[in-house]
Amino acid sequence: MERIISAKLKAEDLALDKGLRPKRLTDFIGQDKVKDNLKIAMTAAQGRGEPLDHILLYGPPGLGKTTLAYIIAAEMRVNIKVTSGPAIERPGDIAAIITNLSKGDILFIDEVHRLSRVVEEVLYPVMEEFALDIVMGKGAGARSLRLNLPRFTLIGATTRFALLSPPLRDRFGAVYRLDFYDESAIEAILARSARLLGVEADRKGIEEIAKRARGTPRVANRLLKRVRDYAQVMGKGIITAKIALEALEKLEVDSIGLDEIDHKVLRTIIQKFNGGPVGLDTIAAAIGEEADTIMDVYEPYLLQLSFLERTPRGRTATRFAYEHLGLPPPKKGKPDQPTLL
Ligand SMILES: Nc1ncnc2c1ncn2[C@@H]1O[C@H](COP(=O)(O)OP(=O)(O)O)[C@@H](O)[C@H]1O
Ligand SMILES: [Mg+2]
Repeated sequence: MERIISAKLKAEDLALDKGLRPKRLTDFIGQDKVKDNLKIAMTAAQGRGEPLDHILLYGPPGLGKTTLAYIIAAEMRVNIKVTSGPAIERPGDIAAIITNLSKGDILFIDEVHRLSRVVEEVLYPVMEEFALDIVMGKGAGARSLRLNLPRFTLIGATTRFALLSPPLRDRFGAVYRLDFYDESAIEAILARSARLLGVEADRKGIEEIAKRARGTPRVANRLLKRVRDYAQVMGKGIITAKIALEALEKLEVDSIGLDEIDHKVLRTIIQKFNGGPVGLDTIAAAIGEEADTIMDVYEPYLLQLSFLERTPRGRTATRFAYEHLGLPPPKKGKPDQPTLL
């Protein structure tokens, strides 16, 4: 199903992303802690005339990991080479990429948790000592050759920190976690995007969109684009609160940005499993979605809203979820009782 509020990258975003993506750190709105730490790290590295330490960026999709990687390259005035975990299939693939890097270059590996184990193992000495061990020949006659590489910076991005193997995790000198944006940051991002798109939007209009953007810039920009279309066809081209509300209603996004599938997840836990705890796989099977997708795309925001809790025995719906759906809250005293079927 097509989800307007999905934070996953869609084809329609590519053109949009390019135009709206901030190019320098000063244009990157929010995430102040990450920005401050990055500024210090970059200034220090530049002062020493050295490349940056390897950096790991993690957090839910659409929060600015790829954007930050490009910004770091721009700020450091170095080349950036972009690839992704699943794209690097064999050790030869990573060797070919790495041997083409120059000193100070950035290698950006998106979805770094999806690197295969053999590729990861090639990366350990590369990240640590800038040495590539090449094995020549097979079996008893095999010999290993060590190739020294120029010092470069690896930037890894992942939505799933826990899936990263500890040895790989440990080899990143800096780890930055991106959080959902607060509403005022999203409003600032929307105002900037509206300006870049050349669409007029009043404050109330921006606020209505921001409320439903799930704290996610990618979702905010996508909603803005749809509302812009609506304003152009149904209004005077100006995004007002009224126009925004009408447009968003048509997109079936509720007052806080939840859609049909979020509702399904919550209703399933509440109505089929008595509020939980229930395992992720069971939820996934019950609503016909992949467990991975639920964990990457839906669950982070429901956790952020405190609608869901993760317990060792599975997911539990909180009273906030009941309230939002207008369902009678669970009986007090035994929230954790398993359902007797
Ligand atoms: N801090 C920010 N300020 C302004 N726009 C942002 C910011 N972070 C992300 N964006 C917008 O959201 C889009 C998605 O960000 P992206 O870096 O692709 O997310 P991720 O790689 O984490 O999935 C970008 O193209 C950009 O337009
Ligand atoms: Mg990305």
